Amino acid sequence: MTTPIETGAAIASRSAGIYDRVARSLHWLVAGLAVIVVALGWAIRGSPRESGSRELLLMLHRSLGLLVIALILFRGWWRLSHSPPPLPASLMRLEVWAAHATHLLLYVFFVLLPLSGYINAATAGHAVSFFGIFTIPPLIAENPRLSQIANGIHLAGQFLVYALVAVHIAAALMHGLIRHDGVFERMLPRRRAG
Ligand code: HEM
Ligand code: HEM
Repeated sequence: MTTPIETGAAIASRSAGIYDRVARSLHWLVAGLAVIVVALGWAIRGSPRESGSRELLLMLHRSLGLLVIALILFRGWWRLSHSPPPLPASLMRLEVWAAHATHLLLYVFFVLLPLSGYINAATAGHAVSFFGIFTIPPLIAENPRLSQIANGIHLAGQFLVYALVAVHIAAALMHGLIRHDGVFERMLPRRRAG
């Protein structure tokens, strides 16, 4: 499907059977940021309460987490307005369905997880600083019960995300290393083509 805002480069990528440059760049940017955000999240727990290092880790974790929401929402919009190339015909219907379901869940969880982090902070009455550049005030009224629930979702939700990402990476490697059917290459960075 071609939409009015699609560029020639995006259309060229699709005919070459790969995701367009914006989709590929956003994919690897979000994947890289996710690793950093999770590492920072774990480091928060290990740092002493009320310490300057904890505050710094929290600020970086929250800021990068908010950046992930913004990027994933933009990515979702980009995806809806720029359809990817069709998958190889060798894939079974069940595999295509499983790939779409996993991708959709990745989008959903990469919004829900950071959102639960923000709701936890906001309902505890905390403003969230974005790299110290500007501050997002609590946009939801203080509510200790909701804050606890959001924190629970944030802490438990990480394991669903790990499971989803593990399945996703395993599938990508299976296509790249065992099947050699071009599915893995669709998302790889490359110098030429859209
Ligand atoms: C993609 C985005 C995010 C991911 C993957 C993520 C993941 C994590 C992980 C893995 C932890 C460590 C949990 C543990 O110790 O077991 C954590 C902690 C935390 N996150 Fe996030 N997070 C994200 C975004 C956010 C955002 C946007 C905020 C707030 C605005 C936030 C606030 C917090 C806080 C306050 C903690 C410490 C919780 C505690 O130790 O009680 N996170 N996060
Ligand atoms: C080393 C880690 C990763 C590898 C090797 C990888 C690989 C891939 C590959 C090969 C595709 C294209 C599948 C196709 O041809 O349809 C893809 C798509 C996708 N990946 Fe990853 N990925 C990784 C990490 C992540 C992470 C952390 C996320 C979290 C947001 C993610 C989210 C997605 C989504 C949502 C799609 C579907 C794109 C779309 O159609 O909109 N990936 N990935």
